[in-house]
Amino acid sequence: MSYARITGTGSYLPEKVLTNHDLEQMVETNDQWIRERTGIEKRHIAADDQTTCDLAEQAARRALEAAGRSPDDIDLIIVATTTPDRVFPSTACLVQQRLDIHGCAAFDIQAVCTGFVYALGVADKFIRTGAAKCALVIGAETLSRIIDWTDRSTCVLFGDGAGAVILEASEEPGILSTHLHADGNYESLLTVNVGVSSNFDALVRGEAYIHMKGNEVFRMAVNTLGRIVDETLEANHMTQADVDWLIPHQANIRIINATARKLNMPPERVVVTVDQHGNTSAASVPMALDVAVRDGRIQRGETLLMEAFGGGFTWGSALLKF
Ligand code: ACO
Repeated sequence: MSYARITGTGSYLPEKVLTNHDLEQMVETNDQWIRERTGIEKRHIAADDQTTCDLAEQAARRALEAAGRSPDDIDLIIVATTTPDRVFPSTACLVQQRLDIHGCAAFDIQAVCTGFVYALGVADKFIRTGAAKCALVIGAETLSRIIDWTDRSTCVLFGDGAGAVILEASEEPGILSTHLHADGNYESLLTVNVGVSSNFDALVRGEAYIHMKGNEVFRMAVNTLGRIVDETLEANHMTQADVDWLIPHQANIRIINATARKLNMPPERVVVTVDQHGNTSAASVPMALDVAVRDGRIQRGETLLMEAFGGGFTWGSALLKF
């Protein structure tokens, strides 16, 4: 049986850094509140002329280099994003053009913070069925563009960035299973309530902002992530002890710690970047993976558990041998 295996990772953060102290000058907040409630110290913000595609391209080039692959090898491109450059073409098509790749399938996936896990699940199926051999899977966001910078309850949480992996067909185990879920009943708890075919006037006025009932999202996230961890381990006849690394979506350190406790995972086995990156939605899991691969923590052959929860609600996980 053929597996899909990650052969290279890459990430990119825009240069501009926004610290909690910078935010103190913008809204009524303080460094201590942000650290205690979220674990965030700073986040990166894209320059005015920098788009999601720009960030995605840089992350993709780094992942290609790490995998020892050239753009010619890629036969599938999936970009997970909530903040695409345009209504169309998809950001995946724009990345394809940047990398001078021609002809392969390229499309975006919109599952907000769970986007990368969704994209990985879809790419895994393409590879397992033989429809693709070498996929470029990206999570990239410029969430700063959909933040109301006068709303302290949301503007302290989010950041921009991109992460990418190269996923290749392999006889050696790679992705063991992915688990994707959604429940649109919760659409109103976490939303940007404007779009092309609804509330378009607000979009034109530049009022496409994230609205979140933080408390309720928090409770749902903790419960749901606990359940998906169980589901993933059971499906693979594994226990917590078989997992070497937890790579969670980086929304809030308290959510991450709750999931880690449920898994009995010691803190040093949990990859945390929320302090440095904030919540970068679809980019957070592949960026965290890349950080821990490049600093030498994650080694080949280790078992990784990725999980994410986001707007929709959507939630999902991936268990894999790295
Ligand atoms: N600075 C200072 N005070 C603040 C700030 C701020 N930035 N923001 C809110 N407060 C105040 C509130 O006004 C409130 O004051 P009050 O008690 O006088 O009314 C108080 O702090 C407590 O507010 P809560 O919302 O109850 O704070 P909570 O502990 O729930 O933390 C947070 C808020 C950090 C947003 C948390 O609820 C959270 O992380 N939620 C989940 C976020 C998440 O996981 N999202 C999913 C992914 S995102 C995606 O899909 C795009």
